Amino acid sequence: MSWSLPRIAFFMTLLFYGSGAGEQQIRCIEVERQALLKIKQDLHEIKEGFLSSWGNEEEKRDCCEWYGVQCSNNSDHVIALDLSPSSHVERYAVLFTEDNDFRFLQGNISPSLRELKHLTYLDLSVINFTGHGIPSFISTFSKLRYLNLSYTFVSGEIPPKLANLSNLEVLDLGYNSRLRTRNVEWVFRLSSLRHLDLSYTNMSQATNWMQVVNKLPYLTNLQLRRCKLPNVTSSSLSRVNSSTSLSVLDLSWNKLSVSVFPWLFSFGRGLVHLDLLDNVLEGPIPKALLNMSTLEYLDLGSNELEGSIPEALGNLTALTYLHLGSNHFEGEFPKSLWGLCKLRELYAGQNNLSNLNLPENIQSLPRCTHHSLEALDFSYNRIMGSFPNLSLFSSLKSLWLSSNQLNGTVPEAIGQLSQLEYLDISGNSLKGAISEAHFSKSSKLSHLSLSGNSMILNISSDWNPPFQLDSISLGSCKVGPRFPKWLQTQKNYSKLNISYAGISDSIPDWFWDLSSEVYSIDLSHNQIHGTTPNSSIEFIGYPEIDLSSNKLEGSIPVFIFKAGAIDLSRNSFSKLDSIFQVSKDSLLTFLDISYNKLSGDLPDCWSNFKELSILVLANNKFSGKIPASIGSLTGIATLNLGNNYFTQELPSLKSCKYLEAINVAENRLFGPIPTWIGESLSSLVIISLRSNNFSGSIPSHLCHLSNLQLLDLSSNDLSGSLPKCLNNLSALKREGYSGFTTISHDYTYGSNGSTVYKGYDYQLQLVWKGTLSTFGNTLALVKSIDLSNNMLNGEIPTEITELIELVFLNLSRNHLSGQIPPEIGDLNLLDALDLSNNQLSGGIPSSLSQVPRLNTLDLSNNNLSGKIPISTQLQSFEVRRTNCSYSS
Ligand SMILES: *[C@@H]1O[C@H](CO)[C@@H](O)[C@H](O)[C@H]1NC(C)=O
Ligand SMILES: *[C@@H]1O[C@H](CO)[C@@H](O)[C@H](O)[C@H]1NC(C)=O
Ligand SMILES: *[C@@H]1O[C@H](CO)[C@@H](O)[C@H](O)[C@H]1NC(C)=O
Ligand SMILES: *[C@@H]1O[C@H](CO)[C@@H](O)[C@H](O)[C@H]1NC(C)=O
Ligand SMILES: *[C@@H]1O[C@H](CO)[C@@H](O)[C@H](O)[C@H]1NC(C)=O
Ligand SMILES: *[C@@H]1O[C@H](CO)[C@@H](O)[C@H](O)[C@H]1NC(C)=O
Ligand SMILES: *[C@@H]1O[C@H](CO)[C@@H](O)[C@H](O)[C@H]1NC(C)=O
Ligand SMILES: *[C@@H]1O[C@H](CO)[C@@H](O)[C@H](O)[C@H]1NC(C)=O
Ligand SMILES: *[C@@H]1O[C@H](CO)[C@@H](O)[C@H](O)[C@H]1NC(C)=O
Repeated sequence: MSWSLPRIAFFMTLLFYGSGAGEQQIRCIEVERQALLKIKQDLHEIKEGFLSSWGNEEEKRDCCEWYGVQCSNNSDHVIALDLSPSSHVERYAVLFTEDNDFRFLQGNISPSLRELKHLTYLDLSVINFTGHGIPSFISTFSKLRYLNLSYTFVSGEIPPKLANLSNLEVLDLGYNSRLRTRNVEWVFRLSSLRHLDLSYTNMSQATNWMQVVNKLPYLTNLQLRRCKLPNVTSSSLSRVNSSTSLSVLDLSWNKLSVSVFPWLFSFGRGLVHLDLLDNVLEGPIPKALLNMSTLEYLDLGSNELEGSIPEALGNLTALTYLHLGSNHFEGEFPKSLWGLCKLRELYAGQNNLSNLNLPENIQSLPRCTHHSLEALDFSYNRIMGSFPNLSLFSSLKSLWLSSNQLNGTVPEAIGQLSQLEYLDISGNSLKGAISEAHFSKSSKLSHLSLSGNSMILNISSDWNPPFQLDSISLGSCKVGPRFPKWLQTQKNYSKLNISYAGISDSIPDWFWDLSSEVYSIDLSHNQIHGTTPNSSIEFIGYPEIDLSSNKLEGSIPVFIFKAGAIDLSRNSFSKLDSIFQVSKDSLLTFLDISYNKLSGDLPDCWSNFKELSILVLANNKFSGKIPASIGSLTGIATLNLGNNYFTQELPSLKSCKYLEAINVAENRLFGPIPTWIGESLSSLVIISLRSNNFSGSIPSHLCHLSNLQLLDLSSNDLSGSLPKCLNNLSALKREGYSGFTTISHDYTYGSNGSTVYKGYDYQLQLVWKGTLSTFGNTLALVKSIDLSNNMLNGEIPTEITELIELVFLNLSRNHLSGQIPPEIGDLNLLDALDLSNNQLSGGIPSSLSQVPRLNTLDLSNNNLSGKIPISTQLQSFEVRRTNCSYSS
């Protein structure tokens, strides 16, 4: 069409004029526009649209109108460039998606930036410049007053040429952990500097860092968090002047000792904000600190400070934030601090304080205190006595009193704290009833932790609580016998603990309509019965679900396998068929179904569980062959199939390279002990094949297991002689313990508030001094060999006496002959030695009398001669010498 072209041109012109752009002057200077376009080219937009206003199109010609660009009203030069997404949160809200990813741009700091010679303000923070350093041409921006490159992942040495930025007032290079500066001389020349942030920069060699304070007369804010700062030395101190305008100082997360104090007190009188969190300060709080009366924010947390908290701290009346937590403070909390009128947050947890020291008559506190305090933390101290009266702290949002020795009842007045969001009083000795009145105004409560007390939840079944909780911990409080119906009103919680809660009821169907954000459900140690229906829930994460020690029965529902860790042990589940429906990409890491009523063949579908690290199926009635797919659990560390009716040979576990513990004790397995155990499973710490029908000889490959601490092959049909190479089991010669990566040391509260270990403990049984004993986490402290009750013959190899870390050695009930190696006394840590019921002959080695801790010695039913050596220990404990033939 012949008319279309001019028409479009006309339309464009119209649009151009119509938008008003033609009436205004285009201010943008061409070289700067070209430079900005190149800067854009060097940046990749992670989220489209951020730089959409920058372009070559006609309507975008005025670069002074571009997002983040500001030109001078006089010269039209670009004077400010701000590409930080955080400066534009509101304007670009649409780009801020739920993932909270503020990173919109990635790339490098374009050399074209150089052209913007008139910049006074440059903010490129939060752009991902991974792999790039700070270009030294930045030092040519002689008019620059503000430079922000924080959170940009820039790396390498900070260019000392930045010293030329003599007009710079704000320099923020913080939170770039791959940045370093060997020396801070360059900072000294930035004489206009008011704000300096070098947090996370490696300054381990910058021994002159403390002079920054003295060389920069206008400096008001200095942030050196986590900079690996060298200690202040007295020689560096003498070169320092002592008057500055500094008001904010952050030296947190360094390893500074008390030598920082004299320096600090030499200039710090005007400080408003002092952050010394997480250093290595020790001794008492220095007196001079108590004179820093302008302090509003004082953080001394996570240090090694000790002694009592000085009463005079109460003279710092400007304080709004005080953190004394994680130190070694003891004694009474000073009364004077309750008089700090402006205090909003007070953290004193993890000390040894014994008394809160709130006045008897809380009304006598200055009124202002009640109004301001929002956060109070005294958790993990030794505070005794009754629950403090906090009823007048009407602004309180967070209260931590967990792990103290508070007793008596919780006053109902706590329910009047209408601002309370976070309440943790777990781990005390509180008793009595918790009723609806305790929550009458708790509409904002989101975190409730009462666990580890002996309180009774006295709540009517149709209670409609005023809150929607995110985290609910009622472990060891009496919640039952009925399943708490009010939980149905809580739609969003991510954590629930009602373990040891005296519930003897079935789980209502509505319960499994959980929030998809749930990360921990603990209903363990109740009397919960009935079956568990399947649920369509999809978890966002991989929660821990603990239903152990109840009376649940029937099928294990398939949805449960979508969790990350599952403990169903000690129930009456009888069917595991649902496991066939588990999808291939299961991320389950922990599965314990021990002590249930599962029977028949174990399903052969384990290849779907690539992440499984702990599998415990012990104490069921599984029979048949152990399925081959168990061998495809390539991430497995602990495999416990003990106490079932498994038969035939072990399947190959050659690919289970990370296996640390294998327990198949008390089954009906037979065949030789596979050689791959010694050849392929070099991480093994524990092997228990006890009470099976394994036959043949002990393969010498086992001697390759240099981490092995516990070898139990007892009660099998093994024959042949003991391998001489046993002395290669180096963990049994070496002090210390290999450490199991899979033992959990997390703890929780058991019934009546006692601390119990949570998660899997090994629960391995050993015949220990004649009786079958169960070892939990202490197992890691037992270095032991038990080969008893087999048909082993030949002599006891002398090499075994090199395993000097052995605590337990049992070779009884075999056909061993010859002498007891005279060096047996080298096994200096032995607690029990059983060589009984063999055909050993010769003398009883006198070296045994040197074994200091030998409690049990059984040499009976042999042909030994000589005296049982008497050691002090043996005199007072059991010595079994029935039928021990000895002559004198
Ligand atoms: C330029 O002038 C505009 C309009 O008068 C004003 O809003 C803006 O703040 C000025 N910019 C500078 C950098 O002075
Ligand atoms: C530098 O940028 C970061 C991230 O945008 C911001 O949080 C910080 O306040 C800025 N620093 C200064 C001193 O303005
Ligand atoms: C930053 O960029 C690097 C390489 O370009 C990339 O590997 C990294 O994941 C990015 N980091 C973030 C937080 O976007
Ligand atoms: C720094 O400034 C000095 C004096 O103003 C000048 O001689 C020198 O060239 C500048 N250096 C850099 C790297 O810009
Ligand atoms: C910090 O720098 C020192 C010396 O410059 C270096 O030895 C050390 O490894 C660095 N630390 C880190 C975590 O990069
Ligand atoms: C500072 O001194 C203390 C105590 O002497 C020491 O523990 C700490 O490691 C030192 N810090 C540094 C960064 O050297
Ligand atoms: C200390 O201050 C004096 C006088 O203000 C000055 O001459 C001297 O150079 C300063 N010393 C240091 C180490 O900054
Ligand atoms: C704190 O104030 C009291 C009275 O106001 C005063 O007697 C005491 O000396 C002060 N303590 C310190 C360390 O300044
Ligand atoms: C609470 O503990 C205190 C101090 O340990 C003790 O004196 C008091 O008798 C206890 N009160 C109750 C009710 O157990």
